[in-house]
Amino acid sequence: MAEKAGGVPRKVDDTGAAGARERGERGMDIQVRMHRAPKTLITGNGAIARIGDEAKKLGATKVLIITDPGVACTGSVAQVEGPLQAAGLTTGLFDKAVPEPPMGSVDEIVKFAEKGKFDCVVGFGGGSAIDVSKMVAVLAGSGRKVEDFVGVDQVPKKGLPIIAVPTTAGTGSEVTNIAIFANEKLNVKQGVVSGYLLPNIALVDPVLTWSCPPGVTAASGMDALIHAIEAYISVNSTMHTDPLAYESIKLISKSIRTATYDGTNAWARHNMSMGSLLAGIAFGNAGVGAVHALSYPIGGIFHVPHGVANTLLLPWVMEYNMLACLPWFKEIGMAMGEDMEGLSDRQAADKTICAMRQLAADLNVPQYLSDVDIPESAIPDLVKGALTQGRLWNNNPRKFTEEDMAQLYRNMAVRPGSKPVKAKKAAAKTK
Ligand SMILES: NC(=O)c1ccc[n+]([C@@H]2O[C@H](COP(=O)([O-])OP(=O)(O)OC[C@H]3O[C@@H](n4cnc5c(N)ncnc54)[C@H](O)[C@@H]3O)[C@@H](O)[C@H]2O)c1
Ligand SMILES: [Fe+2]
Repeated sequence: MAEKAGGVPRKVDDTGAAGARERGERGMDIQVRMHRAPKTLITGNGAIARIGDEAKKLGATKVLIITDPGVACTGSVAQVEGPLQAAGLTTGLFDKAVPEPPMGSVDEIVKFAEKGKFDCVVGFGGGSAIDVSKMVAVLAGSGRKVEDFVGVDQVPKKGLPIIAVPTTAGTGSEVTNIAIFANEKLNVKQGVVSGYLLPNIALVDPVLTWSCPPGVTAASGMDALIHAIEAYISVNSTMHTDPLAYESIKLISKSIRTATYDGTNAWARHNMSMGSLLAGIAFGNAGVGAVHALSYPIGGIFHVPHGVANTLLLPWVMEYNMLACLPWFKEIGMAMGEDMEGLSDRQAADKTICAMRQLAADLNVPQYLSDVDIPESAIPDLVKGALTQGRLWNNNPRKFTEEDMAQLYRNMAVRPGSKPVKAKKAAAKTK
């Protein structure tokens, strides 16, 4: 785990020298901690063929596959239905789940699940379809709605068994106890967090991501990288999450360009899927921070996809956070393959942020609010939305005041040399 070239990561030192964590500089590991992950992880090219036997072991007889139209039109649903049916199970399909799902969109699927008397749910898709499936599993037969379970530990009991099969390498939802929805009334994204949302099985077959177009590959892959980075610097990181986050940064940063621009490159896709899985376990336990907190209102009000909104914020938030945890930024840069020989922590942290900006530019992901048609006049509403993300702010290494949040949004408001976005245009987008 320790990097030999360019120095030794101090959080994950295996050279015998005391690492910072052992010296108690992070000081949190002596607390009582709970580390959660699905009981069963099945990974590798072709793993999807195992889904029938595994569903049977869960006691399933009638399986509901939930996906969205974008995934359904790739034809890959047959790869899920085939092994399930071959194992003697009956299958049903709901293929109209809504990406970046609004809370209200889940109701129809819950009714479908109840009417069909399904006894197992397969979430097949990106984070959107998987989150919806996790929620359907606990809502079916409960008479409740998503809104009732927003927050931490509000779900009263385990629902139907869940098998999560990701088709993006991004959210890590297949291994988290979280489901994220757009609250249409409050114009913000909100999370349901509960151990009962943890899938029974995460089945990660990288081949299923090969059909992802470059834009989705880049944005969802950056989301995974951000999960790893935010988990690594989280004040709630532990010795169980650090190695996973660090390895994830290595895998993703060396593969994301190839996966985006050469989508059938088997190694790049495999690294991305495994990196996303590791990041999911890391952040599912250590949490994410300011990038996610500041990005949820951008998604909630302006419907910018989650990965794009996060990537937009990443370098700006890193610039703000780095002074609170310079050594960790140096290590992140080393995991990205940057040569840090002879650099001070401060110089190394700058180099890491520079590498991150270059990565976002190479992947052609927007970097300014004006790039996604958000006007400066929206900043007070963005701050209002960000302030509601209490559980995320608690993980961030550097504290933010309301003015700090507004200033960060102002810093990234307008791409130099481009015209400011007019408020009217943005208002139309929010409808
Ligand atoms: N539960 C969690 O732990 C967690 C973590 C982070 C984000 N999220 C949530 O996940 C959602 C985003 O998920 P995402 O980034 O995976 O994207 P997504 O699920 O929204 O999918 C994006 C688009 O890509 C398409 N797509 C997905 N896989 C494809 C494939 N293999 N081939 C072709 N098209 C494909 C979909 O049809 C969709 O149109 C957001 O709602 C976000 O808030 C959840
Ligand atoms: Fe995310």
